[in-house]
Amino acid sequence: MASKELARRFTSMFGAQPTIFSAPGRVNLIGEHTDYNEGFVMPSAIGLRTRVAISRRPERKLLIRSQHFPESFEFDLDDLPQQATGAWCDYVLGIAVVLQQTGHAPQGANLLVHSEIPIGAGLSSSAAIEVASALALMSLNGTVLPLAEVAKLCQHTENAFIGARVGIMDQFVACLGKAGHALLLDCRSLDFELISIPDTVRMVVCNTMVKHQHASGEYNQRRKECEEGVRILAGWYPGIRALRDISLHQLVQHSQDLPETIYKRCRHVVEENERVRESARCLRAGDLSGFGKLMRESHRSLRDLYEVSCRELDIMVELAEGLPGYHGGRMTGGGFGGCTLNLVEETEAEAFADRISVRYQQAVGIKPDVYICSAAEGAKAELNRAG
Ligand code: GLA
Repeated sequence: MASKELARRFTSMFGAQPTIFSAPGRVNLIGEHTDYNEGFVMPSAIGLRTRVAISRRPERKLLIRSQHFPESFEFDLDDLPQQATGAWCDYVLGIAVVLQQTGHAPQGANLLVHSEIPIGAGLSSSAAIEVASALALMSLNGTVLPLAEVAKLCQHTENAFIGARVGIMDQFVACLGKAGHALLLDCRSLDFELISIPDTVRMVVCNTMVKHQHASGEYNQRRKECEEGVRILAGWYPGIRALRDISLHQLVQHSQDLPETIYKRCRHVVEENERVRESARCLRAGDLSGFGKLMRESHRSLRDLYEVSCRELDIMVELAEGLPGYHGGRMTGGGFGGCTLNLVEETEAEAFADRISVRYQQAVGIKPDVYICSAAEGAKAELNRAG
């Protein structure tokens, strides 16, 4: 839904003209499960966006509504719940709570949310609603923060209020993604480089339409396993703080000293960090087949070493092989369902989308949603009351 239509609905709902902020969903080209290991990632923002329309209201209350759910939620700003309520509004509420805790107390407001990003598909709909809500609430009290700080505030909300121990990748690219570019991010320093993606390729996103129940439990389990790896390896390398600090050579030397599962997790992270740096070199040089090869390796590693893929993702990745214009592909995001990302020549993208859709339906019996994406712009103000 375009901003103008959302503004029209907002006005008929609340009788006021809104300001609208939006933030995008994302795909991760490469660098999976490396962000919370202080490593490297390379996501892009995509054209599916979440919009949050906002206007001031005189009472010290927040009224939160969505175009997708019937309920409306009202909270007293002087008595905000300090814990998640379990409802969708938690993403907006959590931002308000964290803004208050960090000295940027929000004003009374009406908010209306609309999202184009499918929920639970691994395209970071939660980071998008957090970032758009943060910009919206900050706009009313004149808070201006650098976008990297907004990203950190949103990640903190997700960690401390929602209770998901995610890394910084999704919120960061939702804030700072750039049209036509991949964002190479060092998750320790937050230094980043925007690398141009040739206009001749598209990112074809294929949704397996499954999300396995154990996804968030397994995510936290992987984080623990990585921490355990660091703890054991620090016995030999006392200076290390995260798997980021270990080279493949150092890890292999201690393969016998780590429990097998921990070793596999560490090996994925260490090699994946190397793949991100290598794929950045490929992208800078316009070497898409080199990039595609690294994407395939990343998928295999996520399947065999990190064990976060699933049957449907593996099938979707295999079905892409041999299709015209295909450079490479992999699962994207946390895993256990959600989407694959495929780099495909622009001239072949439509045909690729049709064919993979038919093939997946034949193999799994589910019709996938397929999106042909280009790298899009990060968070922005879309419509202010004057416009
Ligand atoms: C989820 C998290 C990210 C990142 C990925 C895996 O998307 O939100 O922080 O850890 O999983 O790469």
